[in-house]
Amino acid sequence: MIETRTTPSIFTLSNLRLEHNRPEIFAITSGKGGVGKTNISVNLALLLRRLKKNVLLVDADIHLGNVDLLMGIRPGATLADVISGEKTLAEIIVKGPTGVDVMPASSAVLDMIDAEDRVIKRLGDAFLNLEHNYDLVIVDTGAGIGRNVTSFSLGADKVIVVVTPDPASIADAYGVIKILLQKSPSLPIMLVTNMVQSDDEGENLYKKMDLMVQRFLQNKILFGGAILRDESVQDAVRRQIPVVLEYPNSRPSNALKMMTRNLLKLPSRDASERISLFEGVREHRNDTPGKINDQAS
Ligand SMILES: Nc1ncnc2c1ncn2[C@@H]1O[C@H](COP(=O)(O)OP(=O)(O)O)[C@@H](O)[C@H]1O
Ligand SMILES: [Mg+2]
Repeated sequence: MIETRTTPSIFTLSNLRLEHNRPEIFAITSGKGGVGKTNISVNLALLLRRLKKNVLLVDADIHLGNVDLLMGIRPGATLADVISGEKTLAEIIVKGPTGVDVMPASSAVLDMIDAEDRVIKRLGDAFLNLEHNYDLVIVDTGAGIGRNVTSFSLGADKVIVVVTPDPASIADAYGVIKILLQKSPSLPIMLVTNMVQSDDEGENLYKKMDLMVQRFLQNKILFGGAILRDESVQDAVRRQIPVVLEYPNSRPSNALKMMTRNLLKLPSRDASERISLFEGVREHRNDTPGKINDQAS
């Protein structure tokens, strides 16, 4: 524990703690639902685990948390039980395939929005204690630009935005990028184009979005790679075995490996700018939600 004469604010406490031995946090987000965030989060977690990293995967999709389904695991308690005081944060963590730890948060994120400050503080402190056990934390956020979703991304070191060639997905992904970069211009954002017909289509989609970001937001996004629309992904989802385990040499698996390398190469944002994960929710919960709501569409 940190000894101080006066009670530090949560923010000060976390900044002190964040300087020591903290994991890198990656958030996976999108504007629209059903674009492949959970699939990418789960496989990213497994690929990072393969690199001998201790990985925590946080399922923070409020409406459609389904990390457990994609991994074929069954969590018992969730973050809601931590908020109500029945469990500790460590008690709700479940072991997934290859030793990836999973924190089922999903709908409990909504409870956090309404929770009292002291509850959020307890959660924030508990997370700070727990996060030291991990090298990397991956947060599968919900879709949209509601405060619940963006606050997790603003608490991350790097953000993956997932987009598909669907015009609604493109418009909504741009909306998310705009909100994130307006709030945090130095946040590294990597675009992953999913369910494309060819690598060229994926790269062109990235170029188009990067041009929009340069022109209208005077900023830049990076390219994480293109993942083809492929039967192997759908099949892996049906079997509840992540595609990198079930079809390790498929084109989507190779694209996911490339994406993971690109993500690791990307410099993190300045640590001093980052706030602790759950405090992001606290800091931003009074923000006005944007025009796209955070319901997965
Ligand atoms: N590259 C892909 N090729 C084919 N189907 C995909 C691909 N990525 C995702 N899917 C399908 O899209 C569905 C939604 O993916 P999911 O990861 O749950 O999206 P999200 O988390 O963004 O809502 C999955 O059931 C999966 O079958
Ligand atoms: Mg999902």
